[in-house]
Amino acid sequence: MEVIHFDEIESTQKYVKMLLKEGKRDFVVVADMQSDGTGRYGRNWGAPKGGLWFSFVCTKPVTLPDDLVSFFTLAVGVVVKNLLEKFYACELQIKWPNDILLDGKKVCGILCEKIEENLVCGIGLNTNVLAEELKVYNAMATSLFEETGKKVDNRELMIQIIEGCISKLNNLLTEGEYIVKEINSVLAYKGEKRYLTYLDKEAEIVEVDGSGRLIVLEDGVQKFVFAGEVV
Ligand code: BTN
Repeated sequence: MEVIHFDEIESTQKYVKMLLKEGKRDFVVVADMQSDGTGRYGRNWGAPKGGLWFSFVCTKPVTLPDDLVSFFTLAVGVVVKNLLEKFYACELQIKWPNDILLDGKKVCGILCEKIEENLVCGIGLNTNVLAEELKVYNAMATSLFEETGKKVDNRELMIQIIEGCISKLNNLLTEGEYIVKEINSVLAYKGEKRYLTYLDKEAEIVEVDGSGRLIVLEDGVQKFVFAGEVV
């Protein structure tokens, strides 16, 4: 896979989508800094120097049904979580659908977008960033360096994440059960009442089901959450 590196770029995600439209395949775009990074729901994503900001393209195998595509974003979360545990020896949580938290604070955001038969996967990882730089963007964010005192090789981590994601995509049909089990074992806010944008209400977080939906209890009644986020 070709690695396209920028010292600074507006957004790796936007650049990947542009190259994809031009017919380019099998590449990753990584930048030391982004001046206009995007998060889910069009939110701004702060990306100062030291972090790992990259986007890559996974081409969907023809055997993968459409309704399993959103499941892929959960699988990416599991891949990243497992690698962060390996690189940093720390305990992480997954906030459904795909934020990764360390000590309750966000260290990674994932943005997967389906463009025809391709999945554009953007990952923002607060690796070697100073927390004070992140606070400018998000008071609830922290960095892996701040929390563990450990600096890692961003390039090495990126390559392992991409390899893991491609392998998960190819084995999504057979590994579904494992992915759900992994998420539920580290699901953030389990048993707690949180506000869910999808329901526009607070509900108790229960677990993720076999289709990747979040099961919650709203006044004791089981509900399935397909979209939105837990606040
Ligand atoms: C989120 O939590 O809202 C998802 C954030 C995704 C941010 C990454 S950083 C690399 C890639 N380029 C972007 O502009 N966004 C994603």
